[in-house]
Amino acid sequence: MENNNFNHRPRRSCLYTPGINAKAMAKSKSLPVDNIILDLEDAIAPDLKSTARDLVADMVRTNPYGKREVIIRMNELSSLWAKDDVTMINQLRPDGALVPKVQTAQDIVNIDAQLEDGIALWVMIEMPLAILNIQQIAAASQSTKLAGFIIGTNDLAKEFRATPTPERAAFHHALSVTLIAARAYGLIAIDGVYNDIQNAAGLEDECRQGQIMGYDGKTLIHPNQIDITNAIFSPTIDDIEKARAIIAAFELPENRNNGVIKLGGKMVELLHLAEAKRLIAMHDAITAASGG
Ligand code: COA
Ligand code: MG
Repeated sequence: MENNNFNHRPRRSCLYTPGINAKAMAKSKSLPVDNIILDLEDAIAPDLKSTARDLVADMVRTNPYGKREVIIRMNELSSLWAKDDVTMINQLRPDGALVPKVQTAQDIVNIDAQLEDGIALWVMIEMPLAILNIQQIAAASQSTKLAGFIIGTNDLAKEFRATPTPERAAFHHALSVTLIAARAYGLIAIDGVYNDIQNAAGLEDECRQGQIMGYDGKTLIHPNQIDITNAIFSPTIDDIEKARAIIAAFELPENRNNGVIKLGGKMVELLHLAEAKRLIAMHDAITAASGG
């Protein structure tokens, strides 16, 4: 799964927009986000589910989101809204469908059977049982359309009865094991939301935690969170220069047949070359997506 376009698509910023809020859904078309999650689940009160479904359908049909990836978050499989949500998603054919509160590999198989081919399946990792079953859930991608994990830290906090703190100690295991399972099976991994909309420094710290662990990006709840998130999940100028130097060094005639070389006083191996190529491909994809 290393070199396909799906994995090289940037997903630094993934903005939830409530499916009941037509104004915000329209606004998200002009925001510099990589990915938009039109929400029918947590952000929508029970009495407004079908109104939201119709609004989302109108929005996706009539307002193209350009280069932004569009995902629709449906209601959980056991809910009375799931069937109509799936019908609508299959008709609209967004880039992806996001299913909340999955717990087992069988949940993946069940939803996959209902979803048309060509629609990527994303799931929320936000239940204790999903954390315990994470390897089997990730392995289900080998026979289904499962493409990515999105961490749901608000639901995890509720389920764990955990206290959210700036360093997110309560979630380290969940964040870590989900990332490892995603990487083991070639899946996308997106970090949870940061609720304190006005706290830019806090958001920056939390973005960095996810980026250091290896997450591809972060889910967001407000437009003012986009710039910080895009910046932290983009390769830095320094990263890009180092990656180009590694690629150039391995291309030198004297290094053609070397598996390990010395560059700037440090050992560099073929695994670093592979990572350098991935980083440059992501940088190119970000540049192309932002049109510049
Ligand atoms: N997506 C797109 N646009 C959004 C947005 C979002 N998630 N949140 C706010 N906006 C827009 C508003 O429509 C407003 O647009 P305008 O300038 O054209 O009027 C602008 O950004 C400023 O919004 P603001 O007034 O600061 O926020 P608000 O009080 O309208 O909304 C929330 C605050 C938290 C209700 C809103 O940000 C929101 O609904 N976030 C997503 C919640 C969600 O989806 N939760 C489920 C997943 S955890
Ligand atoms: Mg949730």
